[in-house]
Amino acid sequence: MRLPFSDMYNRPDERNLLDRTGQGLIGKPLDRPEGPLKVSGAATYSAEWNLPNCAEGVLVLASIPQGTVREIHADPVLAMPGVMAVIADKAMVRRSAQGTAGKAPAQDVTTVEYFGQPVAVVVAETFEQARDAALALRVDYDPAEKPVPLDPESPQAEVETPSDSKPIEGGDLDAAMREAAFAIDVSYDTPGHASAAMEPHVTIAEWQDDRLILRGSYQMLSHNVKEIADCLSIKPDKVRIIAPYVGGGFGSKLGITHEAVAAAVAAREIGRPVRVVMTRQQVFQTVMRRSETRQRVRLAADAGGRIVGLGHEALVSNLPQEDFAEPVTQATEFLYGGDNRLLKVEVARISRLTAGSVRAPGEAVGMQVLEAAMDELAEAIGMDPIELRKRNLPATVPVEGTPYSSRMLVEALEAGAKAFGWDRRQPTPCQTREGDWWIGHGVASAARVNMMVPAEARVTLNPDGSALVETDQTDIGTGSYAILGQIAGEMLGLPIERVKVELGDTRLPAGAGSGGSFGAISTGSAVMRACEAIRETLAKKLGCEAEELQLKDGVASGGGKQQPIAGLVQEKPLAETGSIKPGKTAKDFSQASYGAFFAEVAVHAFTGETRVRRMTGAFGFGRVLNAKTARSQCLGGMVWGIGSALTEELAFDLRDGHLVNHDLAEYHVPVHADVPAIEVILLEERDAAASPLQAKGVGELGICGAAGAIANAIHNACGVRVRSFPLTLDKLI
Ligand code: MOS
Repeated sequence: MRLPFSDMYNRPDERNLLDRTGQGLIGKPLDRPEGPLKVSGAATYSAEWNLPNCAEGVLVLASIPQGTVREIHADPVLAMPGVMAVIADKAMVRRSAQGTAGKAPAQDVTTVEYFGQPVAVVVAETFEQARDAALALRVDYDPAEKPVPLDPESPQAEVETPSDSKPIEGGDLDAAMREAAFAIDVSYDTPGHASAAMEPHVTIAEWQDDRLILRGSYQMLSHNVKEIADCLSIKPDKVRIIAPYVGGGFGSKLGITHEAVAAAVAAREIGRPVRVVMTRQQVFQTVMRRSETRQRVRLAADAGGRIVGLGHEALVSNLPQEDFAEPVTQATEFLYGGDNRLLKVEVARISRLTAGSVRAPGEAVGMQVLEAAMDELAEAIGMDPIELRKRNLPATVPVEGTPYSSRMLVEALEAGAKAFGWDRRQPTPCQTREGDWWIGHGVASAARVNMMVPAEARVTLNPDGSALVETDQTDIGTGSYAILGQIAGEMLGLPIERVKVELGDTRLPAGAGSGGSFGAISTGSAVMRACEAIRETLAKKLGCEAEELQLKDGVASGGGKQQPIAGLVQEKPLAETGSIKPGKTAKDFSQASYGAFFAEVAVHAFTGETRVRRMTGAFGFGRVLNAKTARSQCLGGMVWGIGSALTEELAFDLRDGHLVNHDLAEYHVPVHADVPAIEVILLEERDAAASPLQAKGVGELGICGAAGAIANAIHNACGVRVRSFPLTLDKLI
């Protein structure tokens, strides 16, 4: 009998099927099966396919911020060796879509909206020839008569409330601030960030009659098919995308990007496959950015340290008409109490490349500021910052009254504090000095919304007792291959070696894609459902009730009978497609993953140089599906936290809008020497409302607040409170 999944994925009092199976794969820190292929170079990444007769395209980017293209001087370039075409198609210069929308705003071919927007693609026999010609291509522009500002702080910038972001208001925040025993009113700013995925954006496009095949680096294949079809005005079922290996995304590959459209248009025009690989600089200049933010946080607390008023207002930016606005206050909505509240995001319309989702959109920058402000409140009250947080966790979401599905924030704060040695922290700054270095410790909460999206997967149990999992789910380095195999192996009682996982091809059932920390739980739940259907058939064939069925090491038992699973399948494979979509629980509960960060820093007394010496993170995100890949996500997130706190910052030239630091030499992500020993504690939790797996998202959790812990540690070390990220040495001295 099927569990009652319709309203609640599993009732909390009911033991989940995954707790009753016996294969022992779930949660195990198994290696990624495709890992050896990747490190040995045997995994074919998108740029590495060698299609016969493939031509090479190189994008040409606008060298003005705004205006129109008057003329593209193609003739001299077409005379260069090997050059076949110079293409400036209307479809090609559309803005990067944002993945979930499936549509890109229409735009006139001749309009340039930001410095670095692609205006043409040059196609040649070899990459070198195309690159040469692209560099030589002369483009004349007419500057815009009424340009929008380049700077979000410009008084000329139009400021709007984004369509999908209603302010949240309750009570009277101003009055609460006036009457509070302790009131904090602070403004912080965070700079723009780049996703900086290791693999640059790339597409090889190939037409077979009216059918388009793309080999490309994308996160969300079933959406990407619709996007490219929309751009080219063809039917989505005419497009196939193949992307078995994706070298990181962090949001930058949620939507198709310009090289995909350019390759498709060029391939159609010249009648040959075309490969377009973006350079690192092009990725930085044209794909998308995380918006810079200016944030005002107000915290009003009573004499006992209970927050009675909370304000979080943010100004972010994007191009005119873009829907996306960095949802800065997303976690502030549910994290702490305070019935008098005002949460609001506004977007300034400026000319910079599209702002979009970069790892943990919203929380990544919202939590780091909220958590720094919480530290300021703790200091004002004279209360331990952990105690302040524990004292302010509401029973239900303020204003809305929604209950929490699960929340291990207190447990994370306590487990982290114990492992980190929080009791040895000096409560007041400037107490610990080692030679020329001030030593300090800081804490911050972690919170990231949990999302499930529709997903499908097919599982086939073969007569030889092996299983195959198929979905177009991507693996962007996160562990999809490993996790989906573990779920199928666990559900079907097969050793992991007997389970094969095929991903990243839109001919397979539509998985969730990789984004918003929803990939593993959504597509994993679809795999679980498919396996449940197979289990029912197996139970019937064995002649026992579904609840009695035990599958382990390839043997089925139940009702006093026992038989090899392969024997039950006989001649025809058992194939089932499982699907999942968000249930009623998505609305009935506030769902989020939680955690806590602890950082120890050393700040040089004379130079202001900051070194993160160690970090601890403790996290609760429902059932742990694979302890190794989950830990790696948390580690990676905390490394991003170090970057947000200390080094990462997009710098735009306010004269012409060009991105100054458009590569990894100038945009400083933390390198090994910047990253200390990081301890990750995974808490055991179940969330019956979040997914049939009782798991929540973990992919983005590790960044959500990490930079706040570092900022707080810096203040604890040297007494300086800098409210402008990144906290570089020039700001500290
Ligand atoms: Mo993520 S920023 O939804 O890839």
